[in-house]
Amino acid sequence: MKRMRDHLPSRRIIAVLAAALLATGTAACGNSDTGDGGGKDDGKITLGFSQVGAESGWRTANTTSIKESAAAAGVDLKFDDAQQKQENQIKAIRNFIQQKVDVIAFSPVVESGWDTVLKEAKDAKIPVILTDRSVDSADKSLYKTFLGSDFVKEGRLAGEWLVEQKKGATGPVNIVELQGTTGSAPANDRKKGFAEAIAANPNLKIIASQSGDFTRAGGKQVMEQFLKANPKIDVLFAHNDDMGLGALEAITAAGKVPGKDITIITVDAVKDGMQALADGRFNFIAECSPLLGPQLMDLAKKVHNGEEVPARIETQETTFTQEQAKAALPERKY
Ligand code: AHR
Repeated sequence: MKRMRDHLPSRRIIAVLAAALLATGTAACGNSDTGDGGGKDDGKITLGFSQVGAESGWRTANTTSIKESAAAAGVDLKFDDAQQKQENQIKAIRNFIQQKVDVIAFSPVVESGWDTVLKEAKDAKIPVILTDRSVDSADKSLYKTFLGSDFVKEGRLAGEWLVEQKKGATGPVNIVELQGTTGSAPANDRKKGFAEAIAANPNLKIIASQSGDFTRAGGKQVMEQFLKANPKIDVLFAHNDDMGLGALEAITAAGKVPGKDITIITVDAVKDGMQALADGRFNFIAECSPLLGPQLMDLAKKVHNGEEVPARIETQETTFTQEQAKAALPERKY
């Protein structure tokens, strides 16, 4: 009996020590010193990702890149498709905060209106990464970094190519523009870059400009309207391949030859777009790379570990003429 009672205090001490050790271990794994929101402590990081939707070939390739890279990097990915609606993205981000994920990343469908939800993530100490598209928040402390393309540059490259092609043209060159999703960074920026590049050439005139929402159906429908309203269209600048591909149907149905009667310039360089360019139906593409997954996983791990990351990481891209598309197509991954 005496022996039993002798054991009791030491058992209690062991229990207290074990509890203390466990608590220390949890704090270390949960990165409480790195601004982590306190996600699972199984050594794997949890990344909540809100995707814009599935509006284009580019988006599909981007989603594949993110899912495959997460699996390869051992990142536990919680993926949400917002179906091109900002309210769905806000809801998804709030769910990620509630679930206490380690890092949140998202591609904002539009530029404005994010401050409140980003502040909620910051208050919960969950770092946020912007991928593909940025936000117009004045408070840059609301996110750790922005990984993606320079959309203004893409628009400018498209415009500069056109200026070069039309050098020496004396009469008016009528341009129609298919804009991306209204209020989105790529629509705003590509429009701006293109307009800047052609500005010094008064004969290059944008006679109509409307959103086709980055979709094939939108591109086709708006191009039909453009063709009905404007008897002379010389150039189409589409903010992405998909809208350009949709417009091809409208142009052909109107009895015109795409790539010949109407010069077609697009952005992205996904496989279908590159095929249209190689076939002579498109004339020029400014590339926008969707393969952001590997860099995103690397950044997610870094911000989770409290490492410094650059505030802006720009994707490396190029442009394609018809000849270059023919050469590049066999190796094209997406
Ligand atoms: O944000 C990137 C743009 O979004 C791509 O150019 C377009 O195809 C996509 O839907």
